[in-house]
Amino acid sequence: MKRREFVKSTLGTAVATGLSAGPLSNLAIGANRRIESEDINSRSSLKDEYDLHFLAIGDWGRNGADHQVQVAQQMGKWATEHPNDFIISTGDNFYPSGVVSEHDPLWHYSFENIYTDFALQWDWYPILGNHDYKSDPDAQVRYSNISRRWKMPARYYSKTFKIKDNDEVLIAFIDTNPLIPEFYQNSEYGPHVAGQQPEKQLQWLDHLLQSSKAKWKIVVGHHPLYTAGPRTENYDTLAVRKVLKPLLEKHRIPLYLSGHEHSMQHLKVQDNCFHQFISGSGSEVTPVKKGLSYSRFEASTYGFMYFALNQQQLQAQCIDHEGKMIYSTIIPLTI
Ligand SMILES: [Fe+2]
Repeated sequence: MKRREFVKSTLGTAVATGLSAGPLSNLAIGANRRIESEDINSRSSLKDEYDLHFLAIGDWGRNGADHQVQVAQQMGKWATEHPNDFIISTGDNFYPSGVVSEHDPLWHYSFENIYTDFALQWDWYPILGNHDYKSDPDAQVRYSNISRRWKMPARYYSKTFKIKDNDEVLIAFIDTNPLIPEFYQNSEYGPHVAGQQPEKQLQWLDHLLQSSKAKWKIVVGHHPLYTAGPRTENYDTLAVRKVLKPLLEKHRIPLYLSGHEHSMQHLKVQDNCFHQFISGSGSEVTPVKKGLSYSRFEASTYGFMYFALNQQQLQAQCIDHEGKMIYSTIIPLTI
């Protein structure tokens, strides 16, 4: 707030001086300030001790049904009242069966007309879930050419963000669907995983994590490696764990974020280096199991997650469809 007030009073002084001293060109002399629009935006007063903030929502597109609208409204409210830089979608963006093209009406009914708050008009970084593979997954890539906020350059991609002292945060957005061997025989998923060369994606991820000098390296994929939901020992959970866990361990990745299970979870297997979060209750919810040794939090509750990080630590919070924060934890960067 202090910074905003200072900028305002500086502008007021300059205008008053110019009016009394003569031509407008005099205003430029000695007034070499660089005020950008974000400096005088009311959101600049929301700054906190963290350098990067993002929301994470998964498993959401149901034409507004089953609490999708309520969660969307609370996301908008939260992002209005807290710092936020972008939104991650952890996949299963459109139920029941993805979108058939970048012009599918579901873009309107399940996305544009649901996440309407101005605070949600910043960049969205989505990945593909299994339901997105029941129609044309590449239509979601092509939608990036139509929407300003939908940023999905490929089925898998990475983004690097600057934090303090030019340190970086690397986020690898991966496509877990081709990593599941059973999908190639599945009549719905098969045609769209065909030709995806999963080993090529794994090599890309290995090289990306190896070559990056980022302080934080985060991997986001639709399928979890572990879950306290119904799919604890399911074929997809086991398949993804088999190929991704060695890479996360090899590169000492501190955080893996997923969706797929319709709940919110924080899991940490004692011997693993990485924490795993699941944010998959953007609309429907499914049950969770209590008492698993590696589960630190699990809730069968509609909602979204909010992450904030700086050079030292990451804060993760779960917010429900009524706007109530139901879980908050701090993870120090020790790796
Ligand atoms: Fe899923």
